[in-house]
Amino acid sequence: MATRRNRTAERARAAAITSVGVLAGGGDAPGMNAVIRAVVRTALGLGWKVHGIRNGFEGLLSPDGVQPLEVESIRGILPQGGSILGASGRANPFELPETERGKTGTRDASERVLARVRELGLDALVVLGGQRTFRIAHRLAEKGLPLVGVPKTISNDVEETVITFGFDTAVATATDALDRLHTTAKSHERVMVVEVTGRETGWIALHAGIAGGADAILIPEVPFDLETICRKVDARYRERRNFAIIVAAEGATPKSGKLLSVGPPEAGRDLRLGGIGAWLAEQLERRTGREARSLALGHLLRGGSPTTFDRLLGTRLGAAAVRLLAAGVLGHMVALRPPQVVSVPLARAAESLRRVPLDGDTVLSARALGISFGDEGVH
Ligand code: F6P
Repeated sequence: MATRRNRTAERARAAAITSVGVLAGGGDAPGMNAVIRAVVRTALGLGWKVHGIRNGFEGLLSPDGVQPLEVESIRGILPQGGSILGASGRANPFELPETERGKTGTRDASERVLARVRELGLDALVVLGGQRTFRIAHRLAEKGLPLVGVPKTISNDVEETVITFGFDTAVATATDALDRLHTTAKSHERVMVVEVTGRETGWIALHAGIAGGADAILIPEVPFDLETICRKVDARYRERRNFAIIVAAEGATPKSGKLLSVGPPEAGRDLRLGGIGAWLAEQLERRTGREARSLALGHLLRGGSPTTFDRLLGTRLGAAAVRLLAAGVLGHMVALRPPQVVSVPLARAAESLRRVPLDGDTVLSARALGISFGDEGVH
C-alpha cells in the first residue's frame, strides 16, 4: 500500500516536469555519449522533452546553443568517444571574460543563464561535470536553478563517488601505452618516463602505473625526491633489468621544486599542467648516465571509444539522474557507491578534490610490490 502511495507521489512529481536540458562542462571524457543517451531515453520514456545544450554553459549564453534531442539524435552514439554536445571548460557564467574600452575583465552573467532556462521552458538541467563545473552548478542551484549533477572526468578526482566515468577508459589507454613502451625501453635499454594527465591528483598514474608494471609512480599526493628515483633506476641496471619505466602524473612535483605548467595562467581557466616528464627524463639521464626518453600521453587519454565499464557506468548514472529529477531531488549529484548508484548533495562534490589516499590498499600494494613513489626511505 505504502509502495503504491510512493509510486503515485513519484508519478505526480515527475508529471510536474515536462522538459529538461542536458549539458556538459569542462573537458570531454569517454562515456559522455552514454550518459546523454541514457538521459534522453529515460526522460523521453517519462514523456518529457529533452534539450541538448552545446559546449557547457556557453550554450545557454548564445542564441543557437540549444537543440531538441530525440531518439534519432542519440542513435549509434553509445560506443562513440567525445560528446555530441561538444565540451567547453571556458564558460563560467559568474566570471565571463569581457573586454571593455581595451580593458579585459569579467562580468557575472548568471542571471542571463537563469532567464534563458526559463525562456526555453526547461524545468531542470542535468549537468555533467567535475569539481569546477559543480562549483558553478552549485552556485546556480543556490540562485534557484533546478538541477542534478553527473560526475564526469578522466581524472577521477570528484568527491563522494568511488569512480567517475571516463577514468576506466583513460587508464586502459595509458596501460596499453605502457605495454608498448616496455618493449622499446627494453630493446634500447633506456629509461622511459611517461607523463599522464590527472591535474592535482594521481589516480590515472597510480592505476595505469600498477597495471602497466611501472618501476616508479610519481603522484601529486607524494612529493618525490630525485635522488630516490635515481637510486631506483640504478638498482634496475645493477639487477641487469637494464631498463626502467617511470609514470609521472602531470601534477607530480619534486620535494624541492614546483608544479610545472604549459604557458602562463589564462583568465577563467585552470592552469595547464605539463612538462614534468621531460624535465625528469633530462635529470635522470644527467644524474644516472642512462639514456632516457619521455612521452606525455596528454589528450590521447581523453579520446577513443569508452570501455564497457564506462558505457555501463555512464548509462547507470544518466538514468539515475533522471530518476532523481522525477523524485524531486534537486541540487544533488548521482554517485557510484557499489553496488548502488546513490545521490549526494552537490555542495560536497563542489567543495574539494578527491585525492589518492596514501594509506589505501592500492598504494600499499604498489609499495609491497617494490614500486617506488620517490619518497625518502621507502624503496
Ligand atoms: O580534467 C581532465 C583533464 O584531461 C586533465 O587531466 C588535464 O589536465 C586537463 O583535462 C586538460 O585540459 P585541456 O583540455 O583544457 O587542455
